[in-house]
Amino acid sequence: MQTKQLGKSDLYITPVGVGAWAMGGGGWKFGWGGQEDQDSIAAIHRALDLGVNWIDTAAVYGLGHSEEIVGRAIKGLSEKPYIFTKGARVWDEDGNIGRSLKADSLRREVENSLRRLDVDVIDLYQIHWPQPDEDIEEGWTALAEMQKEGKLRNIGVSNFSPSQMQRALDIAPITSNQPPYSAVRPGIEDDVLPFCLENNIGVIVYSPMQAGLLTGKMTRERAAGFPENDWRHSNPEFQEPKLSKNLALADVMGEIAKRHDVPTPAVSIAWVLKHPAVTAAIVGMRRADQVDDVVVGGTLELDEQDIAKIDALIR
Ligand SMILES: NC(=O)c1ccc[n+]([C@@H]2O[C@H](COP(=O)([O-])OP(=O)(O)OC[C@H]3O[C@@H](n4cnc5c(N)ncnc54)[C@H](OP(=O)(O)O)[C@@H]3O)[C@@H](O)[C@H]2O)c1
Repeated sequence: MQTKQLGKSDLYITPVGVGAWAMGGGGWKFGWGGQEDQDSIAAIHRALDLGVNWIDTAAVYGLGHSEEIVGRAIKGLSEKPYIFTKGARVWDEDGNIGRSLKADSLRREVENSLRRLDVDVIDLYQIHWPQPDEDIEEGWTALAEMQKEGKLRNIGVSNFSPSQMQRALDIAPITSNQPPYSAVRPGIEDDVLPFCLENNIGVIVYSPMQAGLLTGKMTRERAAGFPENDWRHSNPEFQEPKLSKNLALADVMGEIAKRHDVPTPAVSIAWVLKHPAVTAAIVGMRRADQVDDVVVGGTLELDEQDIAKIDALIR
């Protein structure tokens, strides 16, 4: 699989990376319903077998559980994928989630992530959310120091606006930003993507299939029946009036997929990858049988006719 340089770093990454949010399991506030650890590990192994060379997780996914699963999946592998994780979301003994960009908190978080992932260094450590806004400078300075100390190979941000990226850039270079991007949510095209392109900041976009909505497998029945421990249960994109519009978009993607003889999920992924500012897409995979259909998206090239069909529904 072809790789692309992430920003100015020495990381050359495949167009699709494994997103490990759902691998955190269902037992916390932002779970995706039940998830078996062996399914998560099998999905990671299938992706690596197909040539995917990076995994994105976060400390908060399953309150540490996703990082532990990623650590278990890569243990003993002769060729390890790049491991990207995120901090600045903290939790207490009761599982209440808070936000902290304080230097001492981030230092504790990095040590905990290194231990859970069972690695000596983290390839890319990202600030998960720019919150609280007034502590961005303190948090980014702390990450830059830990990079110099050799605990973090590269440092990046996630969900940052251009002005927030500029404040970080004034302190230390940013390897990458991680924003949401899909045909359902194209908003970053106006400001975030041009800023990243101009400043040579890599972009790994998240939720390219809008959390499963654009896969062709989502139905009204499934959207209406998510269990309470699946965060999609109360998400407006899975409810009217948005649901009908999103499913219509998935139908059009299905027609495009048929024309190219590829699975439907590949189309939403190819759509985000066509933007010149986007380095790669983070795709959530929960089971090995989901992996092949999304990895195809990394090599699919959409033509003008396809783009026009999708644009007609979203612009
Ligand atoms: N930085 C941030 O704030 C942030 C926020 C969100 C996500 N992320 C990152 O981005 C990653 C990807 O985003 P995402 O997981 O939200 O959304 P996504 O990649 O758009 O969708 C993933 C979901 O689609 C479904 N799916 C996967 N493969 C499929 C297939 N072949 N056929 C049908 N359905 C399939 C799965 O859910 P079901 O099977 O249950 O339908 C899966 O969990 C996350 O794992 C995380 O690493 C970061």
